Amino acid sequence: MKFSLFTLFMTAAAANLGGAAATPLDPRDVYVPPVLYPHAGTVWFVGQRHNVTWDNSNPPKQITNKIGRIMIRKGDLTTPVILADNFSILLGHIEVTVPWVEDGSDYQIVLFGDSGNLAHCSPSLALEPQKSTKNISRRKFRRN
Ligand SMILES: *[C@@H]1O[C@H](CO)[C@@H](O)[C@H](O)[C@H]1NC(C)=O
Ligand SMILES: *[C@@H]1O[C@H](CO)[C@@H](O)[C@H](O)[C@H]1NC(C)=O
Ligand SMILES: *[C@@H]1O[C@H](CO)[C@@H](O)[C@H](O)[C@H]1NC(C)=O
Repeated sequence: MKFSLFTLFMTAAAANLGGAAATPLDPRDVYVPPVLYPHAGTVWFVGQRHNVTWDNSNPPKQITNKIGRIMIRKGDLTTPVILADNFSILLGHIEVTVPWVEDGSDYQIVLFGDSGNLAHCSPSLALEPQKSTKNISRRKFRRN
């Protein structure tokens, strides 16, 4: 088993000679399905509850990591905020509460499988202050 994995790895590495700094793939079958919701253009308001949803329609037969974690990312930075933890990645969705963060439109939901080696990010979503407190739409100025 070890030998065949090694062979496979070497074959992959050989096939990859073109790429200068190719990162080797983790040989374990760590499963991280893609996030379906939130999607591009989603706006969440602080304090709301939402189901983060991912595509669990095609899991591998053997999964080494059944436990998922959801964190939040702003711009290029994964923040320390954990939205959900210790849930089965096979569930397909998990309910989270939108945390009280600075408003912005460059947030992403990060779904981790295993211990954080691999992750899938949602497209950018906006986190806004509470819906009821303020009308956030901006007026457009017209030029004549
Ligand atoms: C999340 O999904 C569960 C199961 O389908 C449902 O019971 C729950 O109401 C949903 N929560 C939200 C905030 O939509
Ligand atoms: C994770 O969830 C399982 C099953 O629900 C539970 O038995 C276990 O205590 C939980 N672990 C932590 C660290 O919360
Ligand atoms: C917010 O303001 C915009 C334009 O200023 C208006 O069209 C919209 O109806 C307002 N929304 C609410 C919830 O008051």
